[in-house]
Amino acid sequence: MKRHVIAAAAAGLLATGGAWAQSVEVLHWWTSGGEAAALGVLKKDLEKQGVAWKDMPVAGGGGEAAMTSLRARVTAKNPPTAVQMLGFDIQDWAKQGALGDLNALAAKEGWDKTVPAALQAFSKHNGKWIAAPVNVHSTNWVWANREVLAKAGVNAAPANWDAFVDALDKVQKAGFVALAHGGQAWQEATIFDGVVLATGGVDFYRKALVNKDKASLGSDTMKRAFDRMAQLRKYVDKDFSNRDWNLASAMVIQGKAGFQIMGDWAKGEFINAKKAPGKDFLCFRVPGTQGMVSFNSDQFAMFNVGAAAQDAQIKLASAIMNPSFQSAFNVVKGSVPARTDVPDRAFDDCGKKGMKDLAEANTKGTLVGSMAHGHAVPASVKNAFYDVITQHFNGKMDSAAAVKAMVQAAE
Ligand code: BGC
Repeated sequence: MKRHVIAAAAAGLLATGGAWAQSVEVLHWWTSGGEAAALGVLKKDLEKQGVAWKDMPVAGGGGEAAMTSLRARVTAKNPPTAVQMLGFDIQDWAKQGALGDLNALAAKEGWDKTVPAALQAFSKHNGKWIAAPVNVHSTNWVWANREVLAKAGVNAAPANWDAFVDALDKVQKAGFVALAHGGQAWQEATIFDGVVLATGGVDFYRKALVNKDKASLGSDTMKRAFDRMAQLRKYVDKDFSNRDWNLASAMVIQGKAGFQIMGDWAKGEFINAKKAPGKDFLCFRVPGTQGMVSFNSDQFAMFNVGAAAQDAQIKLASAIMNPSFQSAFNVVKGSVPARTDVPDRAFDDCGKKGMKDLAEANTKGTLVGSMAHGHAVPASVKNAFYDVITQHFNGKMDSAAAVKAMVQAAE
């Protein structure tokens, strides 16, 4: 009997008082080493409160596969308690009436005052809090192996696009893979966020990728952005097709490659491999995008669950919004807090820079939603953009054709 009780408690089935514990079922795509470590912080937090964690992982960056699984669960009228979700997807589910109401908790805990407006735009629908934001990531980052760069004679983070291309060239000539990349549409789109910002600046990015302005999508500037994508294509290795993003990070971590252009979830992989920023690796903004931030925020959308499951759901939401949790979690995840009142003390230099960049971009008006990660346009348009970007990257259309296809994709 005793053994049975201990086993059940270890599995999170029993609360400390001996009564049946509550549970939450959480759908997410955090399956890499760094991501799993970060998720572990949240799981432990909940289990300490006697709430069991039912894990529903569906691998695939950007969450496309996760959204497909979710659709099936909602159709079967059996949604998970909470789902990791990005930007416009949250609003789509809210419009369908599938999400719960966190207003009472949000009022009690003062979320309105501590969550930046750029995030609230996605966490609220018709004045109702429907999701709890756990972080802010941004996509216009480059991750570099310091030793590889030194061996290639690259002594500083490149400050502009030409210097970046020059550095890629040097790393390639020194016998390394210059650009670690995984050939999946969402990864190419992630690079594209930074390339468009570097090529056209914030106003152009907004006009083209947020407002779907046809003149901008079809412009020479957009063509130049595609030309730069083609330039980058020359620096990836021959095995890049369909490689997962974390395996591309591993190439940089292990000294096989010089650079990776990826959101700051990549830092989670470096940290998980016990690498230190400044010493083993460098983090810097995509050259030409200094002062700009293309952000995405992972939020946990809370689904309409029966009354019996609501208390555990509220505990989950409250745990996510706790300031010290947001510090502990984001230190591991590579992201920065989704609240403005969390000190940067526990963060490494890349994290501190991330927090500072975000705050500055927010005041200066140089903060834009990541197209690649669902914060610029709804999924239908995003997926149409993905198709064009990935076909072009794989040499199936030239830059002039890509620009025309972008205009069509926006329709
Ligand atoms: C999410 C990150 C995640 C990354 C790769 C992004 O869309 O916002 O949290 O680490 O995908 O899986």
